[in-house]
Amino acid sequence: MADREYDIVVWGASGFTGRLVAEYLTRRSKDLPNLRWAMAGRNHTKLEQIRSDLNADDIDILIADSHDTDSLTTLVQRARVIISTVGPYALYGSELVKACAAHGTDYCDLAGEVQWIREMINVADEPARESGARIVHCCGFDSVPFDMGVWVAQQNMQQAHGVFSKTVTGLMRRMKGSFSGGTFASMINMMEEASGSPSLRKALTNVGMLLPEPSRYISRPACESRVTWSVEGDTWTAPFVMTPINSRIVQRTNALLGSPWGEDFSYEEAVATGPGISGRTRAMAMLAGTGGFMLAAALKTTRKLLQRFLPEPGEGPDKLARESGYYRAEMIAHHPTKSDADIRVNVEGDMDPGYGSTSKILAECALCLALDDLKTPGGSWTPASAMGAALQTRLETHAGLRFTVKE
Ligand SMILES: NC(=O)c1ccc[n+]([C@@H]2O[C@H](COP(=O)([O-])OP(=O)(O)OC[C@H]3O[C@@H](n4cnc5c(N)ncnc54)[C@H](OP(=O)(O)O)[C@@H]3O)[C@@H](O)[C@H]2O)c1
Repeated sequence: MADREYDIVVWGASGFTGRLVAEYLTRRSKDLPNLRWAMAGRNHTKLEQIRSDLNADDIDILIADSHDTDSLTTLVQRARVIISTVGPYALYGSELVKACAAHGTDYCDLAGEVQWIREMINVADEPARESGARIVHCCGFDSVPFDMGVWVAQQNMQQAHGVFSKTVTGLMRRMKGSFSGGTFASMINMMEEASGSPSLRKALTNVGMLLPEPSRYISRPACESRVTWSVEGDTWTAPFVMTPINSRIVQRTNALLGSPWGEDFSYEEAVATGPGISGRTRAMAMLAGTGGFMLAAALKTTRKLLQRFLPEPGEGPDKLARESGYYRAEMIAHHPTKSDADIRVNVEGDMDPGYGSTSKILAECALCLALDDLKTPGGSWTPASAMGAALQTRLETHAGLRFTVKE
């Protein structure tokens, strides 16, 4: 694709997260003088203002609209990789994915909307295989630290013991950060769709929902819906809001790699709230809070009320909040036969998960697709199955992530 004008185009650079990605690429391209990238969106005035704020006068601005297929076709034909931060993806993202798949343009996004990702796999996987486009969803906090965390744990299990783990547990140990208006809009849109569709509600309970053969049903572990005690983590746990997407992506990674971790591989994930009565109380409070939000988002009357109190699209945590944020997840890969040979991997991020860290992760995924010598052919991939070791190096070298292995 040497003939393409740009290595990377940031689609949605006027939004909260897209602007952070553009800011990161402006800084990163100082070390990459040959990198050709551009900002794209539907509003020229907003994009010009961002370009001026970033002191990035040499960066081109491209205009298109999510619902104008011709403008999207022209856009994707000019780039090797499109980064999309235009969401809710279920409302604004489908035509772009189809255009990338049809025209051999690599694509990465921040979608966490599992039902929409399923739909995109159904319509884009085949054309992407034919055109050579690598389509990679979930390239932010959901699901890169978890997808890559499991992959790193499995690589280490293989190197240390010559086997793969059949069961991995992910525990969110520490986290400081908040959500943007765009993320709330995506969550609410997903709950709205699910509340009107019993078949979608049923499909969402299938941990195998993103497998190449979606009819295979994997039931949800108890920690996805209840307060549970984790023996290996020595902690009470509450359901984690990102698990419905992370666990489905991890299962798809295993399947796309040819099921090296086993056909019956299981991945459980939850928030660790600590031991004792205080840990249990925190877990119960967290469950009640998440459940209350989901219920309010699912019901038409309370949904409207909820939207009045949430940040608007385009709003999100400020620089101080992003820079004072952090997270640490622990991946516990169980040895299939020896209980004293488990592998534990800490996955740490140096900024708030949703925006500071996410924008760096997403940009590095795009750089990996554009510049690294990946052997991955066209199709609909997950971050770990498409980029594995090359992405790990980029995340640790540039994006402030650390994968620390303890045996
Ligand atoms: N997975 C993660 O870890 C993670 C983290 C952060 C965000 N996200 C997801 O990323 C998405 C964006 O979040 P955000 O907070 O950045 O949202 P946002 O600030 O509302 O930005 C949305 C962007 O979409 C653009 N847009 C809307 N309709 C469009 C159309 N018809 N044509 C072209 N562009 C259009 C907006 O352009 P205008 O400026 O012209 O309105 C804006 O650039 C959401 O789906 C969110 O859930 C995921």
